[in-house]
Amino acid sequence: MIPIRFLHISDTHLGPNQEFIQHDANTFKAFSHFLNGIKSLPFKPEFIIHTGDVTANCYEEGYKFMASAIKDIHIPFYFTTGNHDRSEQIKHHLSSNNAEVLSSKLNTYRFSVGDHHFMTLDGRGPNEIDPHGVISLEQMDVLKKELETGKQVTLFIHYPALPLDSTWFDENMLLTNGTEFHQLLASHKEQVRGVFFGHIHRSSQTLVDGILYSSVGSMSAQFLLFPDQLKPMFESTGQGYFNIVTIDRGKVLIKNQSFANGQELYTLKTE
Ligand SMILES: [Fe+2]
Ligand SMILES: [Fe+2]
Repeated sequence: MIPIRFLHISDTHLGPNQEFIQHDANTFKAFSHFLNGIKSLPFKPEFIIHTGDVTANCYEEGYKFMASAIKDIHIPFYFTTGNHDRSEQIKHHLSSNNAEVLSSKLNTYRFSVGDHHFMTLDGRGPNEIDPHGVISLEQMDVLKKELETGKQVTLFIHYPALPLDSTWFDENMLLTNGTEFHQLLASHKEQVRGVFFGHIHRSSQTLVDGILYSSVGSMSAQFLLFPDQLKPMFESTGQGYFNIVTIDRGKVLIKNQSFANGQELYTLKTE
């Protein structure tokens, strides 16, 4: 069944109406560019994973828009819960495509492509720790059980587990128990193919103790991630990014991509 190819997207930050602007960008327009672009993709990914912040602030209309917009794409979409989402809303509005539900309350589930497992983890904690996330004891147990199966697994979660060498982000945006999470993964590194996340609105790749962590840019506004930065800074171009991920025997490939202003791929110049 390998190679397995999927698209990683995140942080669409949809609003309550289609005129919604956040960080100088119309988030509906930016996401529509992506949707138009993937209609002309020259290959078919197995699925598209959205690692959270579907809407900018739990907007019901945003989830409804997402649910209807992805209907004609004919590629399964999966969603993790971001800090600007509520798991109940995601579970209510967005299908998990018959994935195996691993928590009654949280947005945690598992699906397979061939023999390979994929698992969403729900890092949304209590409001007091926001924008940090946390992996609850319940989910840590679910994850331990998954690792005991001995299967190859790829994980999806909204939050970064480990520091990113950027002061504000490292102090404010990480999982509060990211080190414990990482140690569990590192003790099963031969099974864990990668941990894919969003939240930081920037593509990044980190390899620690044999565990690969990879984030993707946002659909509309990108954070800067300079080392000594003491506050969040944005680049507001309205340009959205996605990653094409290939999981193959003994390797994982990640390619950052964008659709320039919503042009169909086949209208882009070939030389
Ligand atoms: Fe976000
Ligand atoms: Fe976020």
